Amino acid sequence: MSYDLNRIIDRNGTASMKWSAYHGGSHGGPINPIGPDLSGDGPVPMWVADMDFPSPQPVLDALKSRIDHGIFGYTLAPDSYFDSAINWIKKHHDWEIPKEWMTTTPGVVPALHFAVKTFCQAGDKVLVQQPVYYPFFRTITNSGCEVISSPLIDGDDGYAMDFEDLEQKASDPAVTVAILCSPHNPVGRVWREDELRQYGEICNRHGVLVIADEIHMDLMMPGNTFYPYAQLGSEFADNVLVCTAPSKTFNLAGMHLSNMVIPNEKLRRAYNNYMTNTGVAGGHNPLALTAIEAAYNHGEEWLEQVIEYIWGNFQTLKTYIDQHIPQLKVTELQGTYLCWVDFRGLDLGQDKLEKLTQLDAKVLLDEGHIFGQEGHGFERFNLACPRPLLNLALERLKMQIEKL
Ligand SMILES: Cc1ncc(COP(=O)(O)O)c(C=O)c1O
Repeated sequence: MSYDLNRIIDRNGTASMKWSAYHGGSHGGPINPIGPDLSGDGPVPMWVADMDFPSPQPVLDALKSRIDHGIFGYTLAPDSYFDSAINWIKKHHDWEIPKEWMTTTPGVVPALHFAVKTFCQAGDKVLVQQPVYYPFFRTITNSGCEVISSPLIDGDDGYAMDFEDLEQKASDPAVTVAILCSPHNPVGRVWREDELRQYGEICNRHGVLVIADEIHMDLMMPGNTFYPYAQLGSEFADNVLVCTAPSKTFNLAGMHLSNMVIPNEKLRRAYNNYMTNTGVAGGHNPLALTAIEAAYNHGEEWLEQVIEYIWGNFQTLKTYIDQHIPQLKVTELQGTYLCWVDFRGLDLGQDKLEKLTQLDAKVLLDEGHIFGQEGHGFERFNLACPRPLLNLALERLKMQIEKL
């Protein structure tokens, strides 16, 4: 079936985080966003990483039928759930996951918290690569650990890992864990096999456990292929916990169900013990299981259309900015639906930049600095939205930038 992704659906009244509150910015507080007919002058929210598209029709059908059943008691994840996830990953990423390697988690961020708690002692250092998905920082500091960044290199050919710096940082015996963001949020890089191998060799050499956050694995822009970290070889698979989820892929983040894949039995046992001790392991939300199984089994057609549309949004943004706001620089999008734009050419400080985007243009973006100090002067656009919304946001930004 063909999905109408241009349609703006009113998310007001659904307690959508993206459409009802803005906590990320300097100008936080409740918001009254632009309505679906675009006639209002409220803000256009393009921050939190969910999509303004309904999930695939087979998901909606499966949910309706599950709701009709009427009983929502304690529910286990059935084999068919794991089969659907495993089959999807095998088909799309050529990675065969034995069922016993996989466990469910109530979201990737909670999984990261559990993993850091399981494998780090207070005082340990955890390696990340800024600018990076900022909730990583809290998963580290909440466990009494220290964030150590090996910043990405912002080169002429795009972002790259700084292997010399990584080697030096990883050699600190206090660094026990590294969190890899693959594909990388916010810079949109899809790491190549050789880059992952070099990263993994460094971590293995220094006894640093890798937690690979692969939540964006399915969101590949044309010409890019995702490489699963655990496919690098057994010595890499033996030293990694992989977080995957259907939440970004099928716009199901509110379902709070994701997957953790741990090939190494000893690590798996330790992680699962921690999960059991928190009381989190066990029952599942039956609607989440239903939705996700349907998405993995029948969501492919929808995803193909959504990716094509997001790629069209990226082209629209890039062309518009190149033609009308050349002071900004758009980072090439290889994967994810999050686009990293350099506003430093405007030469505004942080406060003035936030005032310009949030208050004057009324376009709610994720402020670059929250991803680490390397993000100062950048903004992250969420491109998973109907194009009319994107066009309006771009026009508003242009208008305010012309006034500078
Ligand atoms: C890299 C990355 N990890 C994790 C998450 C959130 O995962 P969850 O909603 O499953 O906690 C996001 C959301 O944007 C993300 O970009």
